[in-house]
Amino acid sequence: MSSTGGAEVLVASNRGPVSYEMRDDGSLHAKRGGGGLVSGLSAIGPDADAVWVCAALSDGDREAARRAGGGRLPAGDTGGQQVRMLDIAPDVFSDAYNGIANSALWFVHHMLYQTPLEPVFDAEFRRQWASYQAYNQAFAEALAQEAGQGAVVVIQDYHLALAPRMLRRLRPDLRIGHFSHTPWAPPDYFRLLPDDIAAELLGGILGADHAAFLTRRWADAFVACCHAVLGPGIPAAGETRIGVHGLGADAEFLRKRSHEPDVDERMRALREEIGEGRRTIVRVDRTELSKNIVRGLLAYRQLLDDHPEWRERVVHVAFAYPSRQDLAVYRDYTAEVQRVADEINAAYGTAGWTPVVLHVKDDFARSLAAYRLADVALVNPIRDGMNLVAKEIPVVSDDGCVLVLSREAGAYEELGEDAVVVNPYDIGGTAAALQEALTMGDEERAERSKRLAAAATALPPAAWFLEQLGALSG
Ligand code: F6P
Repeated sequence: MSSTGGAEVLVASNRGPVSYEMRDDGSLHAKRGGGGLVSGLSAIGPDADAVWVCAALSDGDREAARRAGGGRLPAGDTGGQQVRMLDIAPDVFSDAYNGIANSALWFVHHMLYQTPLEPVFDAEFRRQWASYQAYNQAFAEALAQEAGQGAVVVIQDYHLALAPRMLRRLRPDLRIGHFSHTPWAPPDYFRLLPDDIAAELLGGILGADHAAFLTRRWADAFVACCHAVLGPGIPAAGETRIGVHGLGADAEFLRKRSHEPDVDERMRALREEIGEGRRTIVRVDRTELSKNIVRGLLAYRQLLDDHPEWRERVVHVAFAYPSRQDLAVYRDYTAEVQRVADEINAAYGTAGWTPVVLHVKDDFARSLAAYRLADVALVNPIRDGMNLVAKEIPVVSDDGCVLVLSREAGAYEELGEDAVVVNPYDIGGTAAALQEALTMGDEERAERSKRLAAAATALPPAAWFLEQLGALSG
């Protein structure tokens, strides 16, 4: 504890490191999550005085937050981590998370609108915006309560763009960072947003001492938006500093975890599904519009048309895990992925060969099994903040893999040289890239894969997190 009785380091994010499921008998079952922030935070050691503030996402979470009386969750549930889960009213949460964050902001930063009819910034949107403000204010207030004098606070992502400024007003003594995990839209696209809201979002992040991004491209786009919306001199020198920290894969964890018995078992099952001696094109995504899964399937179909010699000899292993299913547009996309995969299997499949092996039930061990088996990794998002799958597969694949990578993924900045690069909209170009990947010589493939793995692990989560803290310590 600091001298004033609050924490010294605070992390804020929408999704926290633990989630709860309510059982029929009313008991709560805690499930710990993984990801960059969880392993990053472990870098500061178990004795560090750190608190993680997150939102209650499910009914089980809300019940756990209530049982904790608005305070921290039981340490037994969180692996010893101090976690405060905010019980935000469900309608306010839904407006902020579904309505603003995963509709308006996600669509703007990933440039997903079909602009003749979208976006619709009407009275309903304004109502949702008020909820987004309230959600951000709830985080700012909790952080202000939890933080010791002069503490360091790192606020994560597009859900919490307003919180830095709100927190600054409540606690001018704190050192505040904001980290964006998404791309940042260029000014012409960002300015689809109503002018006052565009200015409020930028001003919210500029409330931080340090605003950080995954790549130089997104950082430059943020600054360009500040100039276009707020004025050419903003951010002024000496105010918010801009940083770039390219989160990498956690090689140590992945290499160990991918050789545990449950992964071996799933490899056996997958091999059976794929069939003896066949090549694999692997993709693993949350089913989410920016991931461009449908165009990936269409490119695979074109490969089978252009190069019929691959029929019966290759399988597209596509794991597409449904996400954000409260929103119709995400549900429709999930159904479209299934429909196109089924169509390809019906048109090309034979008694002994299923061209597309699609799995939709999230299973981390099976994802790792697919990573190990990958000959080709397909990562073709329309736009992506980083895309960690592009970094993880080369680290885990048993025999080295060829990475087919969208030039619009943040990972392109670090991996572009050794990947086969595609324009994500170009289905024919992606089919040609798959052909190039499948026919690459063993030596070249091994060399490139080695370099990809090295570049992908340059900044593992622990170092990435320490860089965020370090940027605030000067
Ligand atoms: O890509 C930005 C990001 O915040 C990731 O860090 C995270 O995995 C995802 O989006 C959040 O998804 P969800 O809506 O499932 O929490």
